[in-house]
Amino acid sequence: MDKQAVLIVLISLSFLSGCEEPGASADTPSEPYTSFFTPLPEAAVFPADNAFSVEKVQLGEALFWDPILSGRMNVSCATCHHPDHGWADGRMFSIGVDGAGLGPRRSGLAETPFHSPSVLNVAFTGIEQTEPSDGFVSGGYFWDLRAGTLEAQAIDPIRSEVEMRSSDFLEDEIMPAILNRLMLIPEYQRLFGLAFDDEDPITEANIAKALATYQRTLITQRTRFDRFLAGDESVLTGAEITGLNKFINGGCTDCHSGPMLADNEIDPAKPIQIDKPAVRTPSLRNVELTPPYMHDGSRATLGDAIALYEDREDLDITLEDDDFGDIERFLRTLTDNDFPSQIPETVPSQLPVGGDIL
Ligand code: HEC
Ligand code: HEC
Repeated sequence: MDKQAVLIVLISLSFLSGCEEPGASADTPSEPYTSFFTPLPEAAVFPADNAFSVEKVQLGEALFWDPILSGRMNVSCATCHHPDHGWADGRMFSIGVDGAGLGPRRSGLAETPFHSPSVLNVAFTGIEQTEPSDGFVSGGYFWDLRAGTLEAQAIDPIRSEVEMRSSDFLEDEIMPAILNRLMLIPEYQRLFGLAFDDEDPITEANIAKALATYQRTLITQRTRFDRFLAGDESVLTGAEITGLNKFINGGCTDCHSGPMLADNEIDPAKPIQIDKPAVRTPSLRNVELTPPYMHDGSRATLGDAIALYEDREDLDITLEDDDFGDIERFLRTLTDNDFPSQIPETVPSQLPVGGDIL
């Protein structure tokens, strides 16, 4: 269903419910849920110029966890996207090269300008309710959508002075330096050789391809909500279904719908936080695992985040104070509690796995 159609359904729903409070009487399934949401696909679709292979996933995993990609060899992608914190870092803003420790306990001075999002399910960022399941999708990454694909995104943190590069290297020095380091490590020569057919496979483009391939395998579809959507209505409690109905009837699905519960779009006319820039709609899958919330991490708890939607006629939200607890209960059904942690025991450089995060 396209946006227009969703809107029409929403309008007709509000007609049907007449003067009734949104979702007030509902604690049994009533809405045509699968017209708003569908379960996540079982596997990602890979782009034509970066097909899936087990070897690329293995190389991508090594690179993701290896601080060899940072200027001072102390920060890895996992420093800020760690399974202990829902594959984000649990901080308002992230600390990169001048820090030590993991998550809220990490200390250091220089911080990123944005809050770190989870990398779970990034294969499906931008997927729409109507997306044909056999087509590659890529809706854009970062809070301001400045990277079009995961391949385009992957080199950005390595070049960023505060995240991984450090002031020890100029921007145009860092990639040649990292490629030189990787070429000197026999295990990387082996892994790149297995993953890519190129004569000299250790390249910037192949680092990006391997990181993107690994991240496309981080998929969490074993949530109670997915089982509910697949037809097993007994997995949600009455209160959770009440929350789900309020989420739909209260106007949240205007932006948070589809398999990711996000349109991944920026609506400049509707900033969620007054006096702050409009950013893209984030996915609400596993949202329970990644406090604090919003692009600036300004909301400490899930309850605080939802409370931003009180008295928001500007967003066409029609919820009352006492609806928010029900909605929070529903959002907690979007967590995949069975997703394995998948922390490798060593990385090819033999540096500390994940960087200086102990
Ligand atoms: C110092 C912390 C830090 C490090 C290290 C880091 N990231 Fe991030 N990551 C962030 C922050 C902060 C954002 C959001 C930035 C923005 O939107 O401008 C982000 C965004 C992302 C996104 C976009 C997710 C989305 O939903 O749009 C992906 C994918 C990602 N990072 C992957 C990586 C990879 C791969 C690496 C390693 C090469 C890495 N990150 C290293 C902090 C970090
Ligand atoms: C007009 C589009 C729109 C509507 C309607 C909307 N949201 Fe959002 N939502 C967003 C955007 C954009 C953000 C990120 C805002 C920011 O970072 O400043 C967001 C962020 C969130 C977050 C924080 C997620 C995170 O990981 O940081 C939660 C939770 C949330 N919304 C829940 C809801 C609920 C519940 C409703 C209905 C009451 C709702 N949203 C309605 C667009 C929308």
